[in-house]
Amino acid sequence: MSDLSGRTALVTGASRGIGRQVAESLSRAGARVWGLARSEDDLADLSRHHGVEPLRVDLRDETATWLALDDMTDVMGGAPDIVVNAAGTFGIAACDKESVASFDAQIAVNLRGPFLVVRALLPAMLERRSGLIVNIGSVAGRRAFTGNAAYSASKFGLRGFHEVLLEELKGSGVRASLVEPAATDTPLWDPLEPDSDPNLPDRADMLAASEVADAVLFIATRSDTVSIPVLRVERG
Ligand SMILES: NC(=O)c1ccc[n+]([C@@H]2O[C@H](COP(=O)([O-])OP(=O)(O)OC[C@H]3O[C@@H](n4cnc5c(N)ncnc54)[C@H](OP(=O)(O)O)[C@@H]3O)[C@@H](O)[C@H]2O)c1
Repeated sequence: MSDLSGRTALVTGASRGIGRQVAESLSRAGARVWGLARSEDDLADLSRHHGVEPLRVDLRDETATWLALDDMTDVMGGAPDIVVNAAGTFGIAACDKESVASFDAQIAVNLRGPFLVVRALLPAMLERRSGLIVNIGSVAGRRAFTGNAAYSASKFGLRGFHEVLLEELKGSGVRASLVEPAATDTPLWDPLEPDSDPNLPDRADMLAASEVADAVLFIATRSDTVSIPVLRVERG
């Protein structure tokens, strides 16, 4: 068992899917974990069964996000050692049919959300000269898929943000990793019923959320002198 005891972590998107698996595995490895999402019952369940501290926030709300992260930092006694940006939202629509509301929501959660979290926590990490930021990107942040205009724009954008971050973090003691999973079997797919759509991957062919969490745990348990700028995770 990798030992993260004495470490603190924030995981966004912790109520379900990949973020939930990451929060559970960091907690099992001994870290004191805060889990951010909107769903009160799921966060309460995560807290009850895995001791993850709930942080109920809508990442689209800038003020609420700042306040919640300030409160968390006060309780932690500083910025977290590990920050995992896993919150995300996904929809499929062609460029000529995508709604403005859906486009805005995907940019707000998938791109602006990680920016807000980094903007709030990075100054203290830089001052301390330590910390790890893991951004959950996607295969769709590197490759075009039909119907992914908004999602791809958000994930290509996140990769751009991440690559600038990597340049700026050089020599700072703070590390950042972009994890790019292929399709992963999580509730994100539920509204799309992928198994009955020939244009979408079958759930049986997807990664498990726990396999993506294993990749994050691998990164989080490397020595402070090792940096993993990008890690692509695919089905073998
Ligand atoms: N599943 C895949 O095939 C796949 C592949 C590659 C990358 N990814 C990426 O992996 C990450 C996790 O995806 P997933 O598949 O685990 O999705 P998921 O099962 O739908 O979970 C999404 C998480 O994001 C949170 N979230 C959504 N909107 C939010 C908001 N406005 N404020 C705060 N939290 C919000 C949700 O919590 P609440 O609803 O409780 O707020 C939930 O915890 C995302 O960044 C996604 O883009 C997924």
